[in-house]
Amino acid sequence: MKKFILSLLPGLSFIAPTNAVALPSPETANIAPRIPSHHPCDCYLTSGSDPGYFTNYKLWDFRNVPLPHSPNHGAYGPPDESLWETETIPLSESPFNTEWQAQSWRREKTKDNITPMVNSAQNTFFARHPQWTGTSQLVLRTTRLPGYSSTAEIESQQGNFYHCSIRVRMRLMSRDAIARAPGDMRPDNNTVPRGACAGIFTYRSATCESDLEFLTSDPPNTIHYANQPDYDAVNDIIIPGASKVVTTVPAPWSSWVTHRMDWSPNVTRWYADSQLQANVSISVPDRPSLLALNLWSDGGLWTGDLAINESVYMGIEWIEIAYNTSTAGGPPIELPPRHRHRPSKGGEGVLKHKRQFGGDEAGRDARCNRPCYLDKMQQY
Ligand SMILES: *[C@@H]1O[C@H](CO)[C@@H](O)[C@H](O)[C@H]1NC(C)=O
Ligand SMILES: *[C@@H]1O[C@H](CO)[C@@H](O)[C@H](O)[C@H]1NC(C)=O
Ligand SMILES: *[C@@H]1O[C@H](CO)[C@@H](O)[C@H](O)[C@H]1NC(C)=O
Ligand SMILES: *[C@@H]1O[C@H](CO)[C@@H](O)[C@H](O)[C@H]1NC(C)=O
Ligand SMILES: *[C@@H]1O[C@H](CO)[C@@H](O)[C@H](O)[C@H]1NC(C)=O
Repeated sequence: MKKFILSLLPGLSFIAPTNAVALPSPETANIAPRIPSHHPCDCYLTSGSDPGYFTNYKLWDFRNVPLPHSPNHGAYGPPDESLWETETIPLSESPFNTEWQAQSWRREKTKDNITPMVNSAQNTFFARHPQWTGTSQLVLRTTRLPGYSSTAEIESQQGNFYHCSIRVRMRLMSRDAIARAPGDMRPDNNTVPRGACAGIFTYRSATCESDLEFLTSDPPNTIHYANQPDYDAVNDIIIPGASKVVTTVPAPWSSWVTHRMDWSPNVTRWYADSQLQANVSISVPDRPSLLALNLWSDGGLWTGDLAINESVYMGIEWIEIAYNTSTAGGPPIELPPRHRHRPSKGGEGVLKHKRQFGGDEAGRDARCNRPCYLDKMQQY
């Protein structure tokens, strides 16, 4: 791999230094994705001990979405969510809707998961950024209503991702932290209610998935990293080595952090703000997949239950991916409602066998004369 990288070096001269990236505010400049859209990149390189080389790249920047301006703008403070909500627009009414779709399927309660969950497109919208004035964020919301949890999931329209490095700049928030008065610069009090799970994942089926999950009942420096299946529902045991629970993530999920997941052929690796947190080489997904983010709660052992009327919010500044694709195997086969195997005493899921390897990328033109770097390996 080293040899390969060296052979790319002549191409570096194609990358001109630039200050042309439009950034919403100086405060966020240091964490913005660095590849300007006008750069001619043949391929995309990532950092790490086994650096990935990808042929495609996409950035969805949610920080510059024009929002409606309410007549009450400025006249409200936390936790007045209803006024704050008048200055939002649904994902489904934005151009991002062509590539990310808000889900609306539901899952009934079971003996273990006692709260029905209903995904609603109304829980996925653009709203004012709670810190940076004049900036927006994509928000996923879950709210515990008297009879069910109203939940959120977005899935990529594209289902042929076959290995990728996905980075998501995000923060979990309480109602008070997100529904702030415009221009309120005081430090917020972000006590996120317990009982919800936020996830970022690749998905083909319940047995072909890489994910990272944040449980709001955990301390905020804990993240669950896993390849699925990581749980044997028949025997109700955790599959050794398929998941890692890291309790020492350097920045809490209650603050803005860039979470990164590298799905490679034989290993999945996870980073928080560029620092490696975990790697798993068991149950690595081996089929083309979609990408998804969600925020949910079903009253089960995994998520716990939110108190009635409580809400949890997932704010997302941007999603950046370097990726390859494959048409082998067609689109993801498991239709909603997605079933995921989770520890739940007495659960009766069926654990399928690992699928055979497919999606051969061989035969593609592997030339990479003008590489672009996603990480701090190269200054632009
Ligand atoms: C992505 O595709 C290119 C071209 O086929 C290949 O050389 C490279 O190894 C692939 N990257 C990964 C991480 O599979
Ligand atoms: C956070 O809590 C402290 C102490 O209760 C309070 O002084 C401060 O105003 C609160 N901040 C916000 C933004 O509400
Ligand atoms: C992945 O593992 C398989 C089986 O051990 C091996 O044949 C293959 O070369 C590995 N692929 C990469 C990209 O390391
Ligand atoms: C990643 O995996 C290697 C073994 O392949 C291990 O030595 C290392 O500690 C792991 N790093 C983390 C952060 O888990
Ligand atoms: C939930 O909110 C509704 C509407 O604001 C209110 O009528 C109800 O009493 C609240 N229930 C609980 C348990 O707080």
